[in-house]
Amino acid sequence: MLGSQEHILSKIASNDGHGENSAFFDGWKAYDADPYHPTQNPNGVIQMGLAENQLSFDLVEEWVRNNPKASICTAEGASQFKDIAIFQDYHGLPEFRNAVARFMEKVRGDRVRFDPDRIVMSGGATGAQETLAFCLADPGEALLVPTPYYPANDRDLTWRTGVELVPVISDSSNGFKMTRDALETAYKAALESNTTVKGLLLNNPSNPLGTVLDREALSMALSFTNDKNIHLICDEIYSATVFYEPGFVSIAEILAESPDANPDLVHIVYSLSKDLGFPGFRVGILYSYNDAVVSCARKMSSFGLVSTQTQRMLASMLADEEFVGKFLVESAARLGARRAALCEGLAQMGVGSLKGSAGLYCWMDLRRLLKAANFEAEMQLWRVIVNDVRINVSPGASFHCAEPGWFRVCFANMDEETMRVALSRISKLVVQSKSGEARKQCRRRSKLEISLSFRRLEEIMMSPHSPMTSPLVRTMT
Ligand SMILES: Cc1ncc(COP(=O)(O)O)c(C=O)c1O
Repeated sequence: MLGSQEHILSKIASNDGHGENSAFFDGWKAYDADPYHPTQNPNGVIQMGLAENQLSFDLVEEWVRNNPKASICTAEGASQFKDIAIFQDYHGLPEFRNAVARFMEKVRGDRVRFDPDRIVMSGGATGAQETLAFCLADPGEALLVPTPYYPANDRDLTWRTGVELVPVISDSSNGFKMTRDALETAYKAALESNTTVKGLLLNNPSNPLGTVLDREALSMALSFTNDKNIHLICDEIYSATVFYEPGFVSIAEILAESPDANPDLVHIVYSLSKDLGFPGFRVGILYSYNDAVVSCARKMSSFGLVSTQTQRMLASMLADEEFVGKFLVESAARLGARRAALCEGLAQMGVGSLKGSAGLYCWMDLRRLLKAANFEAEMQLWRVIVNDVRINVSPGASFHCAEPGWFRVCFANMDEETMRVALSRISKLVVQSKSGEARKQCRRRSKLEISLSFRRLEEIMMSPHSPMTSPLVRTMT
């Protein structure tokens, strides 16, 4: 369609910057076309490509029931309807900004303070990212981003702004950790291609890795950006999804401990989409230590305000410290248990995953199932997973992962039973693949006149006590 439109529409309207045609979105389409339902569509596609936190809605529902005044659409709250309906100040309700600042402090263990006057609203973290890109860089200028990274960064930071992203490569040899060398290499490569680098975008905890950046990594990143006099943006949207040690450290803490760092270069992106599980409310936060950025971003926020009704309800919910305290502990515990169940299930069938302590997903290692160590083979395997295994997981390529064979598997958007079904489907894929490998082995061995029934071999390989070490087992640290 776009080809025929490009002379009558803008470049943005006729380019493919949204990224809708990537495998990441294709998987969603496959799910939409045939969604799994335990009784009505048991052979449908299970959606494991959606990083949603649905595990603690019972707590939220209970709070909503106990606090009818928080809504203007109840008998208890209706007297406020008019005031809330006409409020349109882009600073946001003071009680909302106060409550969000306090919530961000609580999530960071009360180790830092946030100034409510620096809280700028936006339509989700999506809007906050784009607003920041508009404030920090001009078209053609670039931000460094460690790979693998959240696919929609390409849409959010570049599509309408004309800003570019320059990948900072990492791989499994060190657990996908960002290094100073990799930052310097990417920075130098950008300069050599005459691209001005304006900043570094970090996502901590990481989507898709499920890992956190420790103090050392954050300090290194801050000193790198400070040395180069470029911005440091930290997307901390998953900060309250940390369930194991190592815990979450915010860039706000590192900045507070770094007297030599220039605070004008540091910005935090946040939202309530993951930590509370409210992506539908579109509550995004841009927190900048730079006054000019706060001022400009606040004016830009007119393009993506959070509705006053939502602000009011959330102000009330987040100001309930008892509820917030309980929710944070319980939500993290449930996420941790769910992740453990998924990763242990995978490990039992010989599938490894990157060790992580946060997020709504795990980073699954299927390198040994690839027919060849390249991205074509990854796509081929992904198609089998979506079309035959009937699970939508997201291939590493869609996260710009430099190493083929990794897949992100989301676990918090479904109930336990659905995850069990998903695990059993993955197990079938693994068995089939082992069978193929075993057949090859049998053929090789038959030359040496060793005969072993294939069925028996499969039984042995499937046993948790198998003396045969699966080539699929790979434990990452
Ligand atoms: C790392 C990261 N940043 C930003 C977003 C966008 O979040 P929001 O729904 O608040 O726009 C997501 C959503 O998946 C994400 O994973």
